[in-house]
Amino acid sequence: MDELVIRQPDDFHIHLRDDEMLPLSVEHVSAQFHRAIVMPNLRLPVVSTSMATKYRKRILAAIPTGQLFNPLMTLYLTDRTTPAEILLAKESGIVHGVKYYPAGATTNSDSGVTDLEGRFKVLEAMMMHGVPLLLHGEVTDKDVDIFDREKVFLDSILSRVVKEFPDLKIVLEHITTSDSVDFVDACSDRVAATITAHHLLLNRGDLFDGGIRPHHYCLPILKREEHRLALLRAAVSGSPKYFLGTDSAPHETHTKEASCGCAGVYTAHAAMECYAIAFDSVGSLDKLENFASTFGARFYELPLNMGHIKLVRKEQMIPPTYAYSGGTIVPFRAGQALNWSVEA
Ligand code: NCD
Ligand code: ZN
Repeated sequence: MDELVIRQPDDFHIHLRDDEMLPLSVEHVSAQFHRAIVMPNLRLPVVSTSMATKYRKRILAAIPTGQLFNPLMTLYLTDRTTPAEILLAKESGIVHGVKYYPAGATTNSDSGVTDLEGRFKVLEAMMMHGVPLLLHGEVTDKDVDIFDREKVFLDSILSRVVKEFPDLKIVLEHITTSDSVDFVDACSDRVAATITAHHLLLNRGDLFDGGIRPHHYCLPILKREEHRLALLRAAVSGSPKYFLGTDSAPHETHTKEASCGCAGVYTAHAAMECYAIAFDSVGSLDKLENFASTFGARFYELPLNMGHIKLVRKEQMIPPTYAYSGGTIVPFRAGQALNWSVEA
């Protein structure tokens, strides 16, 4: 297959950031996706519907003329989130999920939840109002090996939440292990997972390929090859529980190329091409449309997009950096050729 026309996809997990980074991140996401679930981990986290409404306006203002893009907002769950805020979020019509970060797990997660049990009243309200819970599925205990933090989260936290809240919709975001695939497979349909393009294309060896590779450092961290293969099997399985979420996470170059570099891989510039390469590698391009354009929309109870995009097997060069007013971003596969392109 050298050409693929699919319904326009949605990205069910992205970081767009704010201020000077917005024009570039919004330009890239809106060139491919009609909608995106926008993460709330700004430096000042988006903790209320009123903050989400204002952030959404800033995103809308950054959309290039001629593009249609609908940002789907999320709230950041903190130790202070109330059930009343959940009702406000639901009634707003613009908030589509509430994001749980364990405190200290990843970029801008200092306001994250320290004790999920203390938030059970909020989860109850979410279950009642049909607001999905989006999870960064890792424990933060420094005594747990970094490669085991996802698995320990499943065993110590998620299994309990799934039991206590049988009707709560849950998205286990950016899964990275076969353990998560097994867990999600064993749950009912109200538990789903997103998979990033970089976790489908890289394993932990790519972090140390001839030297340390800061632009491959993300959280949850890349895992062994056997886990990458399990994710790839899940993505092409045709199960509606698995859908596209890039976790594209821009960081200014010098904050990644540093003695203590930030976590996050930037893929928004060529997200669909990267997924096409991954699906193509196992002869499953025919499974890409449902993964990218159907299953997530159904899970979030959104109408399917009307437009289409065309992917062609045609080489494109990825630039070494993208410039924005605050500096540069090094994109995934910087300076390399990709053998798929999105055609306008
Ligand atoms: C994300 C970011 O930079 O905001 N980083 C990452 O490595 N994925 C945060 C996140 O989703 O964990
Ligand atoms: Zn993320």
